[in-house]
Amino acid sequence: KCGDLNITYPFWLEEPGRPPCGSPSFQLNCNGSQALLTRSMFGAYQVVQVFAENSSFLAVDKNLPLDDGCPKFWFNISLGLGLGPFVISKKNKELLVLDNCTKEATPPGFNRTRCASESFIRLGGEYGGHREPGVVPPACRLSVVPVLGFPGGGDYVRSMKQGFLLEWAVPSDNCPKCEASGGQCRYANDGTGFSCHCSGGVYPEKCGELRKIN
Ligand SMILES: *[C@@H]1O[C@H](CO)[C@@H](O)[C@H](O)[C@H]1NC(C)=O
Ligand SMILES: *[C@@H]1O[C@H](CO)[C@@H](O)[C@H](O)[C@H]1NC(C)=O
Ligand SMILES: *[C@@H]1O[C@H](CO)[C@@H](O)[C@H](O)[C@H]1NC(C)=O
Ligand SMILES: *[C@@H]1O[C@H](CO)[C@@H](O)[C@H](O)[C@H]1NC(C)=O
Ligand SMILES: *[C@@H]1O[C@H](CO)[C@@H](O)[C@H](O)[C@H]1NC(C)=O
Ligand SMILES: *[C@@H]1O[C@H](CO)[C@@H](O)[C@H](O)[C@H]1NC(C)=O
Repeated sequence: KCGDLNITYPFWLEEPGRPPCGSPSFQLNCNGSQALLTRSMFGAYQVVQVFAENSSFLAVDKNLPLDDGCPKFWFNISLGLGLGPFVISKKNKELLVLDNCTKEATPPGFNRTRCASESFIRLGGEYGGHREPGVVPPACRLSVVPVLGFPGGGDYVRSMKQGFLLEWAVPSDNCPKCEASGGQCRYANDGTGFSCHCSGGVYPEKCGELRKIN
């Protein structure tokens, strides 16, 4: 348990002095009452709610400016996911942010933020929709932030605080098979080496198979 979150497979909680017990991508660090993905950008993606039944979870990127909505610089959230088996769900909407514009006028469809460094936002449609022609003026730099929705008016900071939905490709992982056969999953070598520990010995995939490790 970490805060309000019950941590269940495939997620796992790192504990000092204990060997890893899961895949590195799903490693969580309990920071007070927040479960943070250890291997996310700056270790700052908070897992808020997990939907194991459909392999998805709600996350909040703590790298975003969740206090005033004005970061030092904007960036694409997809950047922080380079290493994981995670994809940003199409169920998200997108918040489009423009900055570093070469023209002075507010780009059509966008509102100016109150930030000191000039930037503009727009609450967009389905995540990825900005790729349609005409949505984004070329005279600015674009950053895309996935959000689950827009709770009220143009309050984009509240949207970012609510988080966004990520899906994981069901890992080609033997743990469910191992557990079904009565074994316990073990992950050696920093979580990458799998073995199934059974009453009759240690197996590569599941209890009772022909090949045995020891
Ligand atoms: C977490 O687990 C506890 C004890 O099993 C249960 O009472 C509680 O409802 C669970 N919480 C969530 C959010 O699933
Ligand atoms: C973890 O908690 C500490 C102390 O509460 C805080 O200073 C730090 O910013 C937190 N880290 C993240 C990534 O939220
Ligand atoms: C998974 O189920 C939850 C709860 O019903 C839902 O909120 C979420 O959108 C679903 N995720 C996907 C990827 O459909
Ligand atoms: C901002 O725009 C200027 C000129 O258009 C460009 O040289 C610079 O690299 C841009 N900065 C960023 C951070 O994209
Ligand atoms: C963010 O991603 C979009 C494509 O979705 C790309 O056009 C844009 O240049 C990226 N912005 C930054 C700041 O990397
Ligand atoms: C832009 O501002 C107007 C007036 O405050 C508001 O009605 C609209 O929802 C805002 N649009 C966005 C994208 O924030």
